[in-house]
Amino acid sequence: EEIEKGGYDHFMLKEIYEQPRAIHDTYRGRLLADEGYIRMSGIDHNIERFLNANRIIIVACGTSWHAGLVAEYIFEDLARIPVEVEYASEFRYRNPVITEKDILIAVSQSGETADTLAAIKMAKEKGAFVFGVCNVVGSSIARETHAGAYTHAGPEIGVASTKAFTTQITVLTMIALKLAKEKGEFSQSKYHEFLTELEGIPQKVEKALKSNDLVEKIAEVYKDSTNCLYLGRGYNFPVALEGALKLKEISYIHAEGYPAAEMKHGPIALIDEEMPVVVIATRKGHYEKVVSNIQEIKSRSGKIIAIVTEGDETVKDIADHVVEVPESSEALTPLLTTIPLQLLSYHIALMRGCNVDQPRNLAKSVTVE
Ligand code: G6P
Repeated sequence: EEIEKGGYDHFMLKEIYEQPRAIHDTYRGRLLADEGYIRMSGIDHNIERFLNANRIIIVACGTSWHAGLVAEYIFEDLARIPVEVEYASEFRYRNPVITEKDILIAVSQSGETADTLAAIKMAKEKGAFVFGVCNVVGSSIARETHAGAYTHAGPEIGVASTKAFTTQITVLTMIALKLAKEKGEFSQSKYHEFLTELEGIPQKVEKALKSNDLVEKIAEVYKDSTNCLYLGRGYNFPVALEGALKLKEISYIHAEGYPAAEMKHGPIALIDEEMPVVVIATRKGHYEKVVSNIQEIKSRSGKIIAIVTEGDETVKDIADHVVEVPESSEALTPLLTTIPLQLLSYHIALMRGCNVDQPRNLAKSVTVE
């Protein structure tokens, strides 16, 4: 096992650090920015279906559901295709309206999650085209779907999902970009710009990982907290949910993710000097609005840990701590803002003496209802 951990103390940390490589492996051979194309056989062979689809329904559980939520923003924003994102466990039992013009995308690291598998079977019976985004090759979901695209994250051992999440977002982003181009939503130059930026993401993730020492110091300050709030807007709202989930899963601190603007409809009542609030406040994407949310937290004495774009000065003056991530277009920020949040939960869990790789009561893959 020590050898498998490759010199890291835990699988989770190893997997966090593997993300630049994993993201690269996921687009390698599929995306060529210089030649201006994305090639994914599962999409290419079914392109007409995708272009004629009424809507895309994404079903998943846990972290994979959060990747689906990020994809909703990307698909609707860039490709202008209506998307619904559903918990597989709810979807399968609520007698959903599904037609032959719907495409169901099932997102699953393990490819074995019972609820997701059942949702696929139901959608197939109702005539939908079902596409899988799985990590484990040859898994049940990969076999049960009509077509699919693997994430090439490599084995994920830590129960808390990290590199599976960022590689799922990578695959879903490639699909959205490809459809946006095919639908004529993008000029060749805009397309080229996006592809080039996506190719550059592994280096930016590498840079984001450099925040590790700083994040460890922040973890030291908040390791004894009993609650934590995570806020983000737009593309970074699902990242806030995922940040909160990571903290809950491995440190057993109660954490909630919220869209920043919803704070005033409830969570703001919880804010006092004991409450750490993690806010994603990258420069692209409702920046001014998030800054005013940060001010609201400040005026109630909440402790603010802000994830900001490199060089940000405004938030630095207000927040208690800032962690920088490299600049990127808004659609790609989740791949970067997620990194410090993974590290924060890792360090806090470790300092609390928790079993990071195998948290209590959780399973890597939930194969029963
Ligand atoms: C479990 C795992 C999570 C994972 C979820 C969905 O709860 O602990 O890390 O996100 O299942 O799993 P899947 O394999 O379908 O992505």
